[in-house]
Amino acid sequence: MAISNVSPARGKLGILVVGNGAVATTFITGVLMARKGLAKPIGSMTQYDSIRVGRGDDKRYMHYADIVPLAKLDDIVFGCWDVYPQNAYQAAIYAQVLNERDINPVRRELEAICPMPAAFDKNYVKRLDGDNVKPCATRWEMVEALRKDIRDFRTRNACERIVVLWAASTEIYVPVDESVHYRLCDLEAAMRADDRKHIAPSMCYAYAALAEGAPFIMGAPNTTVDIPAMWELAQQTHMPIAGKDFKTGQTLVKSGFAPIISTRCLGLNGWFSTNILGNRDGLVLDEPENFHTKEVSKLSTLETILRPDLQPDLYGHGNEDDTHFYHKVRINYYPPRNDNKESWDNIDIFGWMGYPMQVKINFLCRDSILAAPVCLDLCLLTDLAARAGRYGTQRFLSFFLKSPMHDYTRGEQPVNNLYQQYTMLKNAIREMGGYEPDEEMD
Ligand SMILES: NC(=O)c1ccc[n+]([C@@H]2O[C@H](COP(=O)([O-])OP(=O)(O)OC[C@H]3O[C@@H](n4cnc5c(N)ncnc54)[C@H](O)[C@@H]3O)[C@@H](O)[C@H]2O)c1
Repeated sequence: MAISNVSPARGKLGILVVGNGAVATTFITGVLMARKGLAKPIGSMTQYDSIRVGRGDDKRYMHYADIVPLAKLDDIVFGCWDVYPQNAYQAAIYAQVLNERDINPVRRELEAICPMPAAFDKNYVKRLDGDNVKPCATRWEMVEALRKDIRDFRTRNACERIVVLWAASTEIYVPVDESVHYRLCDLEAAMRADDRKHIAPSMCYAYAALAEGAPFIMGAPNTTVDIPAMWELAQQTHMPIAGKDFKTGQTLVKSGFAPIISTRCLGLNGWFSTNILGNRDGLVLDEPENFHTKEVSKLSTLETILRPDLQPDLYGHGNEDDTHFYHKVRINYYPPRNDNKESWDNIDIFGWMGYPMQVKINFLCRDSILAAPVCLDLCLLTDLAARAGRYGTQRFLSFFLKSPMHDYTRGEQPVNNLYQQYTMLKNAIREMGGYEPDEEMD
């Protein structure tokens, strides 16, 4: 019998969600309904998946919670921040993701979740106009106010541990700037100097979380914790970080389908991905500067799966310079569809002697329905990682993320292939459970 070296999940786990929108309310409502036995947490790996541990005659298939000590749904307490003051019940109704019959049984619990005022800067999300905002004069004041929120929430709810999850809007693109984002002392100095150009509000949430001993998860494509200064803080406070951008609809399909092309050594000339989306996320992403953040994240998915540098015959044709396949991603705001996103992928592949073929994928998905289980798994698994003494970027969580974080300052490559990511996830669970990691197929 293997012995897990992870400390037990005693007491309550506070999950503080930044944003009280479609994803956040679908996640929270689903957990509250599931623990009453009124809904099933479909799509959640921590609730359904079982993996093999041991080999040969000793092999067994076990659920994650039987291998490692995971927090139980019953032990979760939710809180949130948002720029709009509506409570989680009102926000869930507004989001129109779930039917009222799936919200009303937990109405009382949802009404009790009232968003704390947000750390917000309209220049980062121009399309939003809420007034539930902290009156902070500087970025450093934002950090301090958020730290107080976390401490107060922890005390008020008698939580043993806290996880902070960003499920708020995508901010405008903040390119990594070595003079500010590489060293923690420079990042702190920029926060104190109120450098609004380089310090996004999301960085204040991340800093506050890590400083208060809470793991931080970035569910949007923001570069918030994808900078060496935050890795330094995570190392200092021994806290896990994970990001970025939940892998849900089109990118999930992409990271699962692209390996078919690469594994069979087929060629690719171009991959055109387009989407229509009508919720508030779609509205925010209709702003070019916000879309750019998403575009960078979505484009990165194929980078390490189909590599022109290794296979120039297969992946070195298609763009203007004929050095790389053509890859384009578009998101169009289309209100009639609300959260029910539709994506189309046109994939121009080629085979023997260069003969062309096409694959068309039309995915009629529900964005937040796919994101909610990813939120749950990321929260439970970062909490687990913290108790296992794992800190910094949790690469085993790449499975859940569109643009997985990696140490680019050392030339480390991200892992985008869904099946390799799954192996990393299973091995981390095995290791934390006291079993040997391995490379076998199942
Ligand atoms: N649904 C998916 O499949 C999916 C996949 C990947 C990433 N995401 C990302 O998840 C995020 C949430 O998506 P959604 O559909 O719930 O969007 P949403 O617009 O419904 O909700 C986002 C909420 O965040 C709030 N907000 C914005 N800035 C804030 C701040 N600084 N502090 C506190 N609250 C703030 C907004 O007021 C809004 O209520 C988006 O960034 C989206 O790109 C979603």
